[in-house]
Amino acid sequence: MGMPVVAPPGWSLEARTARDTQGFVVSPFAHLPVAVALFLDAGKARRGWLRAVRQAAPATRADGQQQGRSAAIAFTATGLAALGLGEAELRGFERPFWEGMHHPDRRRRLGDLPGDGGATTLVEGGPRWSGNPKGADPTPLTVHALLVLYAADAADLDAWRVEVESVLDAQSVSAACELPLSLRFDRHGVAREHFGFADGLSQPIPYGDAVRRKDSGPQPDPWHGVPLGDFLFGHPNSHNEPSPGPAVEEKSAAGDATGFFDLGRNGSYLVVRELHQDVAAFWRSMEAAAAALGDPTKDGRWVAERAVGREMDGDLLLPGGKTLPRVPYAPHGPDNAFGFRATDRHGFGCPVGSHVRRSNPRDGLAPDDESAPDLLKSANNHRLLRRGRKFGDDFPADGQDDGKTRGLLFMALNTDITRQFEFVQQTWILNRAFATLQGETDPLCGPAGPFTVPDDPLRWRFGVETFIRFAGGEYFFLPGMAALDWLEARP
Ligand code: HEM
Repeated sequence: MGMPVVAPPGWSLEARTARDTQGFVVSPFAHLPVAVALFLDAGKARRGWLRAVRQAAPATRADGQQQGRSAAIAFTATGLAALGLGEAELRGFERPFWEGMHHPDRRRRLGDLPGDGGATTLVEGGPRWSGNPKGADPTPLTVHALLVLYAADAADLDAWRVEVESVLDAQSVSAACELPLSLRFDRHGVAREHFGFADGLSQPIPYGDAVRRKDSGPQPDPWHGVPLGDFLFGHPNSHNEPSPGPAVEEKSAAGDATGFFDLGRNGSYLVVRELHQDVAAFWRSMEAAAAALGDPTKDGRWVAERAVGREMDGDLLLPGGKTLPRVPYAPHGPDNAFGFRATDRHGFGCPVGSHVRRSNPRDGLAPDDESAPDLLKSANNHRLLRRGRKFGDDFPADGQDDGKTRGLLFMALNTDITRQFEFVQQTWILNRAFATLQGETDPLCGPAGPFTVPDDPLRWRFGVETFIRFAGGEYFFLPGMAALDWLEARP
């Protein structure tokens, strides 16, 4: 196995911010390829459970990530309520957070309503977990907190997990569900998602006073520069103001208000969605679409690469069947310093409706060259810092469907759920009138339907099936270190 192509982030945080921030924010922990996501139900927990859990699995700090084990912890609104936050305190968070991902209005935006034409597809029986309190619609399992444990190898992860589980047991906290996560690099060191595509390539590069750029690149990065405040509360964001996080009133022993504690400081919202991937159905659909094209030069892989919008190893698709030149498996992986306006305005290379072009159109929505910089800037108001990993075994190499459940645990950080995650999903990914397209959505994430591949002189248009299903999810609060101490000390 070569060096992992998950590029080490080219940035870190200055010391004071790093001390107060979870390492999860600055690192995908690529040096720790095995992990488990424990979705905790603390509904019957003993007082002080958070302290005990933090002792067994201390959240890794942004300045201490070179350890053999790392952990991250985040809470749902229900989880914060169980830790003693009152209604008024919860209202200090953004509406989508305290409403939750399964609130009817949030489900409408996200396309998660069953039977809705423009929607995502739900697993059979509906999503199984959320932060919703027991008995509330629509999921059977209630999650109060998410604890992710990362380790260097399976043996160490198992040993650690046994320790953590015995602590959870003693505290009457249970895992409502859990998912084993992995990066599972291929022989070239490329982390691939289950369909076989290199993943985790394109990320925003935060800038601002609290950011330390590790490489010599320009600050801000011309293509991916996004103010730190879009990912960390309390720092200047895309609107040039400190991103507003929750603040809570502090009281003296006598109960008098003494001021406010900045609970959000150096924390973020963590969007989590468990997405099941049907690999056999994906390739069946791609092969069927290729067959319908009746062009022997275009096979299932050709269609799949257009649906994703990158070549399977991650290279950008350029017009004329070219990819961006690069050294194969270079340490920093495929080139990501590009827009679409100059080289691929019509999407003859990377289709306008492909997954990557919908989830980050860069400057590609500009109507003319002059407006391209502005459109790039506004597209960058909707960036997500992705930290997801796949779960489940790899699809069998012989191509025979083993019927096992596998997929992506989508995890993304942002400080404005409405402007960032929900916007990307609603206005780009699931938009039936995205750019110049009509009546189609993201070929990966959307429902079965048509998909257009622009070409010269004539475009290709074919049908794609559904192969990704939503199985559970929630909006979490990923606190900074001082906020974790505050939550732990809460009477
Ligand atoms: C199982 C479901 C999904 C799969 C298999 C998947 C796969 C991929 C792949 C292969 C890439 C290209 C490699 C890269 O840049 O990392 C990518 C990029 C991306 N995806 Fe997804 N994705 C999924 C769901 C989602 C969802 C639900 C969202 C957001 C709502 C999303 C947002 C993004 C973004 C923002 C990018 C980067 C685009 C760019 O900056 O060029 N993905 N995805």
